[in-house]
Amino acid sequence: MDVTLITGASGGIGEALATQLAARKHNLLLVARSADKLDRLCTQLAESYGVQANCIPADLSKPEAAGQIYEECRKKKLTVTLLINNAGIGSSGEFVKNDRQAELEMLQLNNASLVALCHLFLPNMIASRKGGIINVASLAAFFPSPYMAVYAASKVFVRSFTEALTQECKPYGIRVLLFSPGFTSTNFMNTPANDNAWGKALTDGAYTQTAQQVAIEMIQAWEKNETFHVSGRLNAWSVRLGALIPNATIARLFASRKRKQMSR
Ligand SMILES: NC(=O)c1ccc[n+]([C@@H]2O[C@H](COP(=O)([O-])OP(=O)(O)OC[C@H]3O[C@@H](n4cnc5c(N)ncnc54)[C@H](OP(=O)(O)O)[C@@H]3O)[C@@H](O)[C@H]2O)c1
Repeated sequence: MDVTLITGASGGIGEALATQLAARKHNLLLVARSADKLDRLCTQLAESYGVQANCIPADLSKPEAAGQIYEECRKKKLTVTLLINNAGIGSSGEFVKNDRQAELEMLQLNNASLVALCHLFLPNMIASRKGGIINVASLAAFFPSPYMAVYAASKVFVRSFTEALTQECKPYGIRVLLFSPGFTSTNFMNTPANDNAWGKALTDGAYTQTAQQVAIEMIQAWEKNETFHVSGRLNAWSVRLGALIPNATIARLFASRKRKQMSR
């Protein structure tokens, strides 16, 4: 059976995507750590939309997780025709004071597992000349971001990797979309690594979309065959304007503004 695989589907943007895609009759394969949440969502989507919804609980901060998901798919005879690499976490604060292990696990989740999933599922897409990939980056992929240095760098990686992959996949007829949300009202900022004074200063007054708005915008971008999309008009404009300013200047201004906010 052909399925759309969504990582990070137990909440936030991933859950909203699962609901929107089920309404469009996609059969789904949902991945996240919270098995109970995934089970409930699968049941609800199957009942509401008459689709087949499967889940694989997995911790993508572990190097072996991507391979295990691929093997489960083979066992269950699920063919991934759309891979949405959405799972991701962030961290806020001074780099030197952040937990080193947590930062490294973030890189495994945001980058290495994303690369592994693309590498595992692409060959079959290429062989059947059918399929596509959406990689979720962030507004942070366009600006150096002091006080969320590792997160922003991880999203620069997603951006660079995906823009290159888009071109490599073109001759095979496989589409790849780089989708970059701005601040979105989800649990993203409520995790232990983000729920602190720096996190609050970083998001203070930011233009915010809902998870549903972001999910709909992603699906529309995909349906319009786009390969690059920044979510939210204001965010898209900030990326265009930001490109005119040297990165070092943006980093300096960003850092001094955040330090001022923190000293108030
Ligand atoms: N919200 C924002 O402001 C914002 C802005 C720009 C970009 N983004 C990006 O959008 C994507 C989705 O974020 P969101 O806002 O929807 O965040 P969220 O509400 O925190 O949801 C994150 C999802 O990822 C899953 N996840 C977290 N750690 C995982 C792990 N180790 N292994 C497997 N799954 C894991 C979570 O499920 P479990 O806890 O059950 O594992 C959850 O389903 C991320 O890539 C994020 O970087 C978000």
